[in-house]
Amino acid sequence: MGIDIIPTDAPVGAEIQGVDLSQPLSDPDFATVENAFNEHGVVFFRGQSLSPDGLLSFTQRFGDISFNVFGEDHGLNDHPGVVLISNIEEDGRDIGVKRAGSRWHSDMCYTAMPPRGTILCAKEVPDQDGLVLGDTCFAATHTAYDDLPDAMKQRLDGCRAVFDFAGRQRAQIITQEQRERFPPVTHPMVRTHPKTGRKCLYVMRDDCTGIVGREEDEAQRLIAALADHIIRPEYVYRHRWQPGDVLIWDNCTVQHLAIQDYDLPLRRLMHRTTFAADAPPA
Ligand code: SIN
Repeated sequence: MGIDIIPTDAPVGAEIQGVDLSQPLSDPDFATVENAFNEHGVVFFRGQSLSPDGLLSFTQRFGDISFNVFGEDHGLNDHPGVVLISNIEEDGRDIGVKRAGSRWHSDMCYTAMPPRGTILCAKEVPDQDGLVLGDTCFAATHTAYDDLPDAMKQRLDGCRAVFDFAGRQRAQIITQEQRERFPPVTHPMVRTHPKTGRKCLYVMRDDCTGIVGREEDEAQRLIAALADHIIRPEYVYRHRWQPGDVLIWDNCTVQHLAIQDYDLPLRRLMHRTTFAADAPPA
């Protein structure tokens, strides 16, 4: 059976058909998947049955497993590289990271070497009388960059933004140890994708707290304007989950947002892995 790549109507996203991820992929088939991932920024497979071991092996073909600070308490038993994202409670405790990704972001942008990509496997999807809830949205940062006026592109040339884990939303909830583990870092506001060479905007509210060499007011205005520009509806692919979906996103090409429009007794359970990049953003 051949592999089919079916792009979505949005500037990112493609469904990959003809792949059974419960079996090891041949090198040529993996190369087809990886090329589609690089090109489309988000790829997904429907109807998969992927065990935690299978998920980890598949993830490691893209890069080393990365560990997300929010997942440290919610790794799957015996598989700490697999993080549970869920609203489910057992014995009065959250079994997974609850309300993960409720703001537009790119994973672990506050680290010196943010991960290349992230994989989510849908195990349970909230469904209200046939209406599926808990979608995830992905915004195309390359198209957002391409559409900027030339004057703005020139203004951003060479600019670096400050990314701070203790940024605006987290300052109250993180520990001193976490604050010390993740000191502020800087990254280019326009990244060049390491595989495709496309330029991608790398700016978001909250995590992005300033711009090197710019006054606070000017920096905040620019960050807000660009963050809002990236998430314009025409740049967004909205994924409606089905149990058995396996979806991979590229943390350079997209920012993402998990829609929090469900609550118990509607259950949502995802297994997530994250894989490292070869080099810091450039
Ligand atoms: C995340 O930001 O990793 C969560 C995405 C989701 O649960 O849809």
